[in-house]
Amino acid sequence: MGEYMTFEEYRQLCQEINRHNYLYHVLDAPVISDGEFDRMLARLREIEKDHPDWISTDSPSRRAGSPPSDKFNKVNHPTPVLSLANAFSVSEVRAWYERLLRLDERVKDAGFVLEPKIDGLTVVLSYRDGSFVGGATRGDGETGEDITSNIRTIKQVPLRVPVAADASLQPPSSLVVRGEVFILIRDFEALNQRLSENGEKTYLNPRNTAAGSLRQLDSSITASRPLMLLVYQVLASDGQVPATQWQTLEYLRRLGFPVTDTAEYCAGIDEVIAGCERWLQQRDRFPFEVDGVVIKLNDLALAEELGVVGKDPRGALALKYPAREVTTSLKDIGVNVGRTGVLTPYAILEPVEVGGVMVKQATLHNYDFIAEKDIRIGDRVLIKRAGDVIPYVIGPVIDARTGSERAFTPPDACPACGQKAEHFEGEVAWYCVNASCPAQLVRNLEHFVSRPAMDIEGLGIKIVEQLATAGLVKDVADLFTLKKEDLLKLEGFAEKKAENLVQAIDQARLQPLPRLLNALGIRGVGEVMAADLTAVYPDLESLGAATVEELQAIEGVGPNIAGAIVDWFSQPANRQVLAKLQAAGVTPRQVGAARASNALNGATFVVTGTLPGFTRDGVREFIQSNGGKVTDSVSSKTDFLVVGENPGSKLEKARALGVKVLDENSLRRLVQGE
Ligand code: IVH
Repeated sequence: MGEYMTFEEYRQLCQEINRHNYLYHVLDAPVISDGEFDRMLARLREIEKDHPDWISTDSPSRRAGSPPSDKFNKVNHPTPVLSLANAFSVSEVRAWYERLLRLDERVKDAGFVLEPKIDGLTVVLSYRDGSFVGGATRGDGETGEDITSNIRTIKQVPLRVPVAADASLQPPSSLVVRGEVFILIRDFEALNQRLSENGEKTYLNPRNTAAGSLRQLDSSITASRPLMLLVYQVLASDGQVPATQWQTLEYLRRLGFPVTDTAEYCAGIDEVIAGCERWLQQRDRFPFEVDGVVIKLNDLALAEELGVVGKDPRGALALKYPAREVTTSLKDIGVNVGRTGVLTPYAILEPVEVGGVMVKQATLHNYDFIAEKDIRIGDRVLIKRAGDVIPYVIGPVIDARTGSERAFTPPDACPACGQKAEHFEGEVAWYCVNASCPAQLVRNLEHFVSRPAMDIEGLGIKIVEQLATAGLVKDVADLFTLKKEDLLKLEGFAEKKAENLVQAIDQARLQPLPRLLNALGIRGVGEVMAADLTAVYPDLESLGAATVEELQAIEGVGPNIAGAIVDWFSQPANRQVLAKLQAAGVTPRQVGAARASNALNGATFVVTGTLPGFTRDGVREFIQSNGGKVTDSVSSKTDFLVVGENPGSKLEKARALGVKVLDENSLRRLVQGE
């Protein structure tokens, strides 16, 4: 039994709970513990049991969801819920501005607001006398679907506004606002993980998840989804509303709505352009998917006067980021043989442009992935290409199936040599274990001659394939005994080209030891690890004689890498390659032994841009020979970014992560111990 309470006290408790919910979910600044919050809610439920007639639409007890319905009712929006025109380049943004200027010269003195374009779903939220009374989807902009009981479960949606009592802020008797419902990328990943562990269907991307979660007929399912909200527009109100977009954001924030804290005010078009350029670089700073920047005229009356074209208001524009996800048809599935013999399926696609690049192939990870996602040949598939990441298939678009798609059966043999594929306990990958598989040889050679390894100029994948197919090269050591006459037998080789290649190979004999070690392709031994190992072991003989225990004494070497190294040197075939390399005069320079200093004391460096006093490899070797490590990309583990002329996006990233930035001179001073 609830203790005796008046209606006034009950209303006060509702308000208190709503306020704590706001502090927790919107401001991220709770002032009471979860336990205390739960006790307040339990007390409220008790009272509501005794006084069911007191329960109002804004009671926090109703966030848990209500009985499932069989369909959503249609609702008319009080005013059209407009869309946005798109621009795909900064110059289109300027063209938009100039069109506006020709329509109305006041645009020249008008300010603008930049906001993130959240890749979620528009929702329309209605309030009467401050209470949340209805939530709807955008639908066609005129009529949407009534999803009130689903919206109510979203903790960031205020059930009463203003959330915190504020004498100076009277809510209008009718208020309709617009916002975007979405899900954080990490919550999307966790949810998919949970769904797949339960054998349920997973979602394709965060947007799809937010949409699926909002359109549940059973709102208790919506309640279990970590949906978020950001509000950015007053659609209708019978009270006094702000005259500018900037003030609107502030007004909505004061009422207790979640509002983006990354909006920017720009005084004129030049600031808008500069802002857009910056935003294009900073796409990944948001924990949720953002598909562009929205540019809005700050003066709302002026924006209104400029009117609409179709469904797009003239006074706002979306500058879209290059798409990272597109759909295309899966024409076939091929299988690649990796350097270690691992068999990886890849998608052969109907060519499609993603983020400015034509994509014809994408990885399918492994056979289990294809089975789990039920990917079939002929499917329409969603593919993603983000930054430097290799394009990959996310999954099939089930709704686009026609029935003519075929399931994929993994081949039971290596597609390159025909040997039976093998599978090891506890691993998802399938392998070709044939040591003389031609495909593995090609991958090995490719890695051996690559830039960070032996760096043999003029020896690309095509020539590597020719050499392997012609049987001229059976292992990496054979490269060093190639003669001009051998090369002349190959298609596309004339005197000069053959001579150059032989000379380039000859020069590689003297590459530094870390490069040779990296080139050998031992699992786990890349550029950085090779430099660390050769700092301790001055030649391959001593490294080959090291035990697992000894190797593990080196920082960064765990049991896996130590095991892989010992295993590699124990293979007779590898020992033979080493002997052949030595016989062919491959005698690497020993930078490790000739360490200049240990001034950099193991710190991790990334280099970007051109340094006037160094070549690319020169600066790398300078850092390494003074005890530093060099890696390719900036992360939280990077200690210093060395910046030259024309630095790329690495500088932005370093700044965002608070990584120290050095120029060439400060690097030299650091080495001198200053
Ligand atoms: S303003 C008249 N602002 O983008 C105002 N829209 O492609 C029109 N969107 O349907 C919308 N973030 O769902 C606006 N900060 C933002 C937005 C935003 C995401 C969505 C919205 C709209 C779509 C248009």
